[in-house]
Amino acid sequence: LLVDKGNHRHFMAKEIYEQPEVIAHTFSHYLDLSAETVALPDLPFDLAEIQHISITACGTALYAGAVAEYWLERFARVPVSTDIASEFRYRETPLTPGGLTIVISQSGETADTLASLRYAKECGQKVLAVVNVPTSTIAREADAVLPILAGPEIGVASTKAFTCQLATLACLSVAIGRAKGLLSQEDEHRLVRAFMEVPRLMTEALKLSPEIEVLSRTLAKARDVLYLGRGTNFPLALEGALKLKEISYIHAEGYAGGELKHGPIALIDETMPVVVIAPHDRIFDKTVSNMEEVAARGGKIILVTDPKGAAQAHVDAVQKLILPEMPATVCPMVYSIPVQLIAYHTAVIMGTDVDQPRNLAKSVTVE
Ligand code: G6P
Repeated sequence: LLVDKGNHRHFMAKEIYEQPEVIAHTFSHYLDLSAETVALPDLPFDLAEIQHISITACGTALYAGAVAEYWLERFARVPVSTDIASEFRYRETPLTPGGLTIVISQSGETADTLASLRYAKECGQKVLAVVNVPTSTIAREADAVLPILAGPEIGVASTKAFTCQLATLACLSVAIGRAKGLLSQEDEHRLVRAFMEVPRLMTEALKLSPEIEVLSRTLAKARDVLYLGRGTNFPLALEGALKLKEISYIHAEGYAGGELKHGPIALIDETMPVVVIAPHDRIFDKTVSNMEEVAARGGKIILVTDPKGAAQAHVDAVQKLILPEMPATVCPMVYSIPVQLIAYHTAVIMGTDVDQPRNLAKSVTVE
């Protein structure tokens, strides 16, 4: 495989920076750009007939699935359960007829994800694989495949595969919603136009890199970092924490904002940075109260938001990373960029082996 780093110091940096281009490619595959509609390839089952969905995956792919759960429930009104593949495969969860299982995997070879696929098939589920490697075992064994078309990903910590998984799953969610007659043509056009803006918004987000590099000097001194988010930004908080611990070896945890009171608040003092992922949305006020609780205990807040959010967050000790305003559905894709850059720059300062972090493997083919 001949892939080089181009002008970048690490594959991870190259893969972060190529996201506007690769996600445009993924969207162009699943959208009819001139009709402003979603256009999935023919699938061997009827999307309108899906009664329930189980999503199963590991690591970063699992968090892409956790974001998709919100979209699928919102646009397609189908109940969804998202599960860690190593739990799903042994839990003997009852899977009743009419169910679709979505397995998500960059490599298409992860042992637990493959075992989950086989379990779902045994239970008579239709299985849809969302993979980056179309020749993989998972792609071969599934009933249908939606390739994410991210191109080869070399950095062990997944970046562009994550956002291309999100793009593919967003298109799938809209397609199911349409098939079930739950999305008006106008809603679909509006969503598709928002998807078409993602590459440009990502390019804007990449401009935060120098600011994030400075900020990372503070993060590099921390022992623990907390990430908070609500809604689709909750799984993104989990992904942010995963990314940071994977490559910088700093302990990090992601939490839903509403759970702050139920535990992590006990850890907050002036040594604890808290990354809050919060575009200005209908629950932004709730997040402002979370930030007040953190600030009252001396916690240092790094707020990733938009101009409206920045204007409304009158809280002490806040550093703000400001992204353009955008429709809520595309936020997890675009907000991934600062989240990835925070981990990347912190790891570079720590001097770790960014592309090959200790103890981790790109593809986990054993249990
Ligand atoms: C490993 C990798 C992660 C990845 C996970 C799932 O832990 O280090 O980056 O998210 O496996 O891999 P998959 O290929 O199934 O997406």
